[in-house]
Amino acid sequence: MRTNYCGELRADHINKTVILYGWVDRRRDHGGVIFIDLRDRTGTVQIVSDPQRTPESYEDANSLRSEYVIKIIGRVCKRPEESLNPKLPTGEVEIYADKIELLNKVNKQLPFLVSTSDTEPVKEELRLKYRYLDLRRDRMSKNLQLRHQVVKAIRSYLEDKEKFIEIETPILTRSTPEGARDYLVPSRVNPGTWYALPQSPQLFKQLLMVSGFDRYYQIARCFRDEDLRADRQPEFTQLDMELSFVSVDDMLEINERLIADVFKTVKNIDIKHPFPRITYAEAMEKYGTDRPDTRFGLELVDVSEIVKDSGFKVFSGAVKSGGIVKVLPIPGGNETIANVAIKPGGDFYKAAVAAGAKGIAYLRVKEDNKIETIGAIKDNLSLEQKQQLIEKTGAKPGHLLLFGAGSIEIVNKSLDRLRQVIGNHLGLIDPDKISLLWVTEFPMFEWNADEKRLEPLHHPFTAPNPEDLDDLKTARALAYDVVYNGVEIGGGSLRIYQREIQEKVFETIGLSMEEAYNKFGFLLEAFEYGTPPHGGIAYGLDRWVMLMAREESIRDVMAFPKTQQASSLLTDAPAEVDEKQLKELFIASTYDPESE
Ligand code: AMO
Repeated sequence: MRTNYCGELRADHINKTVILYGWVDRRRDHGGVIFIDLRDRTGTVQIVSDPQRTPESYEDANSLRSEYVIKIIGRVCKRPEESLNPKLPTGEVEIYADKIELLNKVNKQLPFLVSTSDTEPVKEELRLKYRYLDLRRDRMSKNLQLRHQVVKAIRSYLEDKEKFIEIETPILTRSTPEGARDYLVPSRVNPGTWYALPQSPQLFKQLLMVSGFDRYYQIARCFRDEDLRADRQPEFTQLDMELSFVSVDDMLEINERLIADVFKTVKNIDIKHPFPRITYAEAMEKYGTDRPDTRFGLELVDVSEIVKDSGFKVFSGAVKSGGIVKVLPIPGGNETIANVAIKPGGDFYKAAVAAGAKGIAYLRVKEDNKIETIGAIKDNLSLEQKQQLIEKTGAKPGHLLLFGAGSIEIVNKSLDRLRQVIGNHLGLIDPDKISLLWVTEFPMFEWNADEKRLEPLHHPFTAPNPEDLDDLKTARALAYDVVYNGVEIGGGSLRIYQREIQEKVFETIGLSMEEAYNKFGFLLEAFEYGTPPHGGIAYGLDRWVMLMAREESIRDVMAFPKTQQASSLLTDAPAEVDEKQLKELFIASTYDPESE
């Protein structure tokens, strides 16, 4: 039996005999002395074998190669002074191997080096194809263990401190209203009908509230057929929660305690709470986005009023046609940002254009607070307007002011993008900082221009703010998102539990009661039998762990993720199936590769 994991051996273990199992991370031959870094999921430890001190293991040690699986029995010794390695947790000790047993060899050429000491980047396609080897590597192994620690901390906090219980909900179910495309599963027993995989457990968790399980949670797998990005996977995991008899404040406070507890337990980091709360309207105004990264400043300023009558047509025209003009003021930007970067072809220019802007107008504030206007703006702003711009944006000598003009949507989108790119470029983002905040008071609905109708921003069971019931179309919702370093890691709302309000919401989004009953009749009926006021939230667990691991893609905190094309390079899923399977399901494909 194993006595210890490799990574846990310390000076305390000196003189003990240990039995270790693991993989050969590296084997080095130093003039007749063989050193082996032995690795398991906890780390590596140095094994030593030579013909004098460990004659029995020497031949075996000599024949080992990278990634062979071995068992060793040996004595823990202090390393000689000159080979102490303070960078390695086990760097004070080494193991003299009395016996080495080869358990298995590697029979093929390794597609990449697994060793911790190898720092060559490996292509992601290769890592995904040989994921089982990739997961042996230190970085991925640590990430998955961190993920486990986070889930463990969540479970124990919610269950032991807050009296939540975990309940599983079905995977083969009906379409849920989260707004993405469903993954469908044909039913063999009921020909011609389909299950949908859950986009979230939304409807079931609300039913559980009707059943009286007033504090539910679940680590729930969700499925959404949508375009993939670094923080989106077709199959991902939510920490899903629902509570009865709570206000928005109660919800936010419980969740702050949960988040703080997880950071403390897993990383020993103290998170101050309550977190800052910012309304949706304020977030859009100051940052141009509903998920602001507040680790750095660079707040946007609306200057539409100042420039609406200016001679500069790009500004005045934008305001006249219902748009806005906003400024991204950059302290010291005169020094740090050159014209080439913001002129056509420059990196920042390209970033703004990729986000929909037509270009960037800019001003530079000089030493004596005089403004140097550039290009087309040059003669088209009055002295007074320039003065007002300085006042409103709080600009000081040395400031660079970047302007966005046009529709509200594009101005916000492009300045948000620029703010992030420039924040990064100027090194304003401290990677050690943690910014956690709530965005509240989302609008209930947004306009779907394609379908020319309002649609719910979250889902149709989100409760409107009771103050806004007179005009539901523009009502604010009792909804909240939690944003971590500029990433939406969770979102939820209080729910509608009164029939009249639910009917009004369906009416506002153009869903007849009949259609609503067709889709969610079982939920609406359940609501007739004594429904408590309730609300909930769901976290994207993968995103949360990604940020804690300081990774940039959720793929790096998932054991077996899919590619951007939603496929698995390891198993080759999705794949064709036997004709027989299709027949049993009464399915024939209409796909015609020729027509692509
Ligand atoms: P929502 O749709 O906002 O809310 O999802 C909650 C959180 O899940 C994460 N997320 C994703 N993570 C990875 N890949 C994806 N494709 C993906 N889509 C979403 C995000 C998001 O904040 N039922 C509601 C919650 C509620 O109202 O209680 C829901 O699912 O971090």
